[in-house]
Amino acid sequence: MTSRKGIVMSGIRPTGYLHLGNYFGAVRNYVRMQDEFECYFMVADLHSLTTHPDTSQLKDNIHRVLAENIACGLDPDKVALYCQSHVPETAELYLYLNMLSYVGELERTTTFKDKARSQPDNVNAGLLTYPVLQTADIIIHRASYVPVGKDQEQHLEMCRNFANRFNHRFGEIFPEPVAFNFGEDLARIPSLDGKGKMSKSENQYATIYLSDGDDLIRKKAMKAVTDSGPVEPNSPKPEIIENLFGLMRLLGTPANVQHYEDAWNNCTIKYGEFKKQLGEDLVSFVSPIRIKAEEIQADKQYLKDIMIKGAEKANHSAQKTMKLVREAMGLNYY
Ligand code: TRP
Repeated sequence: MTSRKGIVMSGIRPTGYLHLGNYFGAVRNYVRMQDEFECYFMVADLHSLTTHPDTSQLKDNIHRVLAENIACGLDPDKVALYCQSHVPETAELYLYLNMLSYVGELERTTTFKDKARSQPDNVNAGLLTYPVLQTADIIIHRASYVPVGKDQEQHLEMCRNFANRFNHRFGEIFPEPVAFNFGEDLARIPSLDGKGKMSKSENQYATIYLSDGDDLIRKKAMKAVTDSGPVEPNSPKPEIIENLFGLMRLLGTPANVQHYEDAWNNCTIKYGEFKKQLGEDLVSFVSPIRIKAEEIQADKQYLKDIMIKGAEKANHSAQKTMKLVREAMGLNYY
């Protein structure tokens, strides 16, 4: 990998299944970045231990996350795609950064407060220092760009603080990482029940997962919430209807979209038919990804090979950084 390119780093939690919202909000951006940047994409298995202490499903989940991301177009030959625990230097840097982070600021982190509330019996120190570990993930590659959503803004701000503190105390080693996306067209995928966006935790029937079978997708599309239909020609669409049209514009053919736009405008639209078409558009989009992901997930040798290859690239970069870090900190005694 050439270091003339900007360095990109992001982490993917191995909990939950990928859905369309994740695809258009995150994975598609990773795929676009892989040609322009030096990319490190990591499966955050260590972070998952802060909320999921039961590791019996971990291996399967890691395999699935890797398979789904590759099926979406992430190319393990172009990027470093690796597991967090395969870069042990991350834990070392995390330790040093812990001495530069204050309990007060960690306790004020929104995600910490949320998780402390949702798992009161397991408010572990790892939960408290979650943003410190995330900082180590990012700066261990001296990355400048972090493609993440709004929910990670505070973590990223803390990351900049920790990196700056290190630089002030020990010398300029780390750039200040910023959140990155390709601007406007970060598509927000609406939930099919008209309530907010697709998400892991809300109504399962209103979220399309990349692992959903064709018939399940069709059923979900037919259950999409609509209204009683247009009463006047050329009237503006209410949000729930516009959202469904938006999905069809994203996934379907322009001719079909035009057909239903016309039907809306002259008040002949039949929602049953419209949702049936939307279902087919969703199936055409999701089904090849699902089939590819299943194939990859079944190929344990391939998964092992890509994990090894990813770890090699990530280790190379991490070791280079840690040499600088130890020297800057004065942890070099001979
Ligand atoms: N905290 C991130 C999330 O919840 C996952 C993550 C871990 C991450 N390490 C990272 C994201 C480093 C960006 C960079 O989704």
